[in-house]
Amino acid sequence: MSAQIIPVQPFDLVVFGGTGDLALRKLLPALYHRDADGQLPEDARVIAVSRQALDDDSYRAKVAAALATYISASETVENTTNRFLARLHHVTLDVKGDAGWQELKKTFAGRDDRVRVFYLATAPDLFGAVAKRVGEENLITPLTRLVLEKPIGKDLASARAINDLVGSVFPERQIFRIDHYLGKETVQNLMALRFANSLFEPMWNHSLIDHVQITVAETVGVESRAAYYNTSGALRDMVQNHLLQLVCLVAMEPPSAMDADAVRDEKLKVLKSLKVMKPADVLRNGVRGQYKAGAVNGVAVPGFAEEVGSPTATETFVALKAEVENWRWAGVPFYLRTGKRMPHRVSEIVIQFRAIPHSAFGPDAGTIEPNRLVLRLQPDEGVQLQLMSKDPGPGGMRLKPTPLNLSFADAFKVRWPEAYERLLLDVVRGNATLFMRRDEVEAAWSWAEPLLAAWEQSAEPVRFYNAGSWGPAESAILLARDGRAWADPTT
Ligand code: BG6
Repeated sequence: MSAQIIPVQPFDLVVFGGTGDLALRKLLPALYHRDADGQLPEDARVIAVSRQALDDDSYRAKVAAALATYISASETVENTTNRFLARLHHVTLDVKGDAGWQELKKTFAGRDDRVRVFYLATAPDLFGAVAKRVGEENLITPLTRLVLEKPIGKDLASARAINDLVGSVFPERQIFRIDHYLGKETVQNLMALRFANSLFEPMWNHSLIDHVQITVAETVGVESRAAYYNTSGALRDMVQNHLLQLVCLVAMEPPSAMDADAVRDEKLKVLKSLKVMKPADVLRNGVRGQYKAGAVNGVAVPGFAEEVGSPTATETFVALKAEVENWRWAGVPFYLRTGKRMPHRVSEIVIQFRAIPHSAFGPDAGTIEPNRLVLRLQPDEGVQLQLMSKDPGPGGMRLKPTPLNLSFADAFKVRWPEAYERLLLDVVRGNATLFMRRDEVEAAWSWAEPLLAAWEQSAEPVRFYNAGSWGPAESAILLARDGRAWADPTT
């Protein structure tokens, strides 16, 4: 099986924050891979913008070092590397001042017919200022797109302020708000599984589904991002965006077409159906935790407070019981959890079906577990259906949960592309299906904000957990109270 490569139009991609971690670790390696696959047209260029005094050559040297770090030697080809590095330019520019803007403008001379992308890989408080200045400098053409990295604000008011500011310069159809989870192959596969198979849709509702679990567990801590993370926390960093987007894809109605507005209209309906929690519900249905020192995969790691340098109430773990209040999902809890410094890096969605209504088997058959459909997003991407089957052998009828496994790595022998490869080229193509619309971001904040407020105002402390564990005990209690348990993501 081979991936189909469709070249995109010539483009100029301007990356504000061009020397930052995101650009060096994710964006440029993603473009390198697309170049290696022959998808970038000959005169596609990347113009990195930063305050550093770098000329093109010194910027290229910096990127060459980053590529050597983030792309394995077996995937690197010298010709591609040279061709890719030659596409890169650097402009020293002060976003808040005047330095550099004229030079940036000059780089576009004679290139108004190319797709022009402004990618803001900067802090969100600069989004409005950069968009405004780009407009004032007359750099916006009909083929221009503006890409905003998450987080879009830190609450509803700040998200609205950013959206108002960028919206006063760019029409909505030219704004691409990235949630990189939507670019993951397996996340898109969720749409294929649901809407390209007739098998699941008839059972995808409250009559056959007992509950849904979404786990996004990371082994990493906050490392060099402690200062940022301490102002954010897991709810803002992961739940308001990535986990809610996964909820949307599980819960949405089938769209009439896979186009940007049809898909986003359906996701928006899910976000608007999420039950907004009152403070007492938040304390009952939400658990926030913070890692203490411990060991992950046998390596000793410090606690979050030590990384920040002082005690703090910021959560590095969240477990929640969410409810989608509509006809399809009434009474089906969506249990969400995400945390840093967990024992394994694993992201998965578990759809647990209802238990059988009556067992014809005697007590010797063992427990009849409800069926589970497990969508493994990372690692070991694939789909697993857990069925009960007979344990082979004579001497009675003993039953056993048995997995039916589809491993994408085995089924598709291709390199698994990174989310940003898909998303960057979708921006160039002008396809916004996998990007968040303004109303989606704001609806997600409307749901998340009461949680943040309730936690801030509550006297209930953040619960501590040892690094290398699955979070505080209260996370297991959240499900145990409903007679349920988290699926073991390691099986
Ligand atoms: C980012 C968060 O959006 O997603 C990080 O800011 C997190 O804190 C990362 O580590 C997780 O992404 P992935 O693709 O590694 O699951």
